[in-house]
Amino acid sequence: MIELGVNIDHVATIRQARRGHEPDPLKAALLAEEYGADAITVHVREDRRHMQDEDVRRIRPAIATRLNFECAVVENMLRLVEEIAPHDVCFVPERREEVTTEGGLDVLGGLQTIGAAVERIQAQNMRVSLFIDPAEAQVRAAAQVGAQAIELHTGSYANACTQTQVQAQQNNATHLHELQRIRQAAELGVSLGLRVNAGHGLTFDNVQPIAAIECISELNIGHSLVANAVFMGWEKAITHMKQLMVQARLHSIRPRGGKS
Ligand code: PXP
Repeated sequence: MIELGVNIDHVATIRQARRGHEPDPLKAALLAEEYGADAITVHVREDRRHMQDEDVRRIRPAIATRLNFECAVVENMLRLVEEIAPHDVCFVPERREEVTTEGGLDVLGGLQTIGAAVERIQAQNMRVSLFIDPAEAQVRAAAQVGAQAIELHTGSYANACTQTQVQAQQNNATHLHELQRIRQAAELGVSLGLRVNAGHGLTFDNVQPIAAIECISELNIGHSLVANAVFMGWEKAITHMKQLMVQARLHSIRPRGGKS
């Protein structure tokens, strides 16, 4: 069944607003697991704007599921990865001035550096995923450098969905096009032997078409869960998201013409 990786970065964002102790990302991780998270995702950014090294040191031994550690391909992050030894590592591009991870990693343009990092980390029994745009060349490059997994960036799809709501029919074609790109990239990835995950910008409103793509293993979702938790609570936000994902997947794998 499709898995939900709960990204808890923005729990840390709220804490960092006061540089204090609450809300505690470790508590968010443990509760997320209780409410149905299949993995806990954290992104330690080079500017440490939300998650701190110490958070990850506390979370890694305390959780019962998997820790998915996102970071840039730079030496000090690779050292932190080696110290923490998470189950999964997801290499992402990072620009200091960006508000969030705006695009995928250019694996094709960095075959040597990224390939060396993949080899180094996978040799230590961690599974490496590359966060890439849903583009054929990048999927093939990810397979070429030997990564075990990819995470497809769903940001363009999510943006097109939002625009669709605002501009009604006009952008419908864009969001369907983006969905098709993700489906094709996912199918290509699986055919090349990769585990395929996806994420970025997913919400209650746009998650189901992505969750319905049968060859996607896991969705990593953060901002919308934390945003909704402000109004409905952490438990309801996570359980509702997981329910939407599972419903979409069950619906997509029901035999055609079968009775519901
Ligand atoms: N996956 C990756 C690789 C990311 O960098 C992010 C954002 O940190 C997410 C998923 C989650 O995106 P969002 O917070 O928009 O759900």
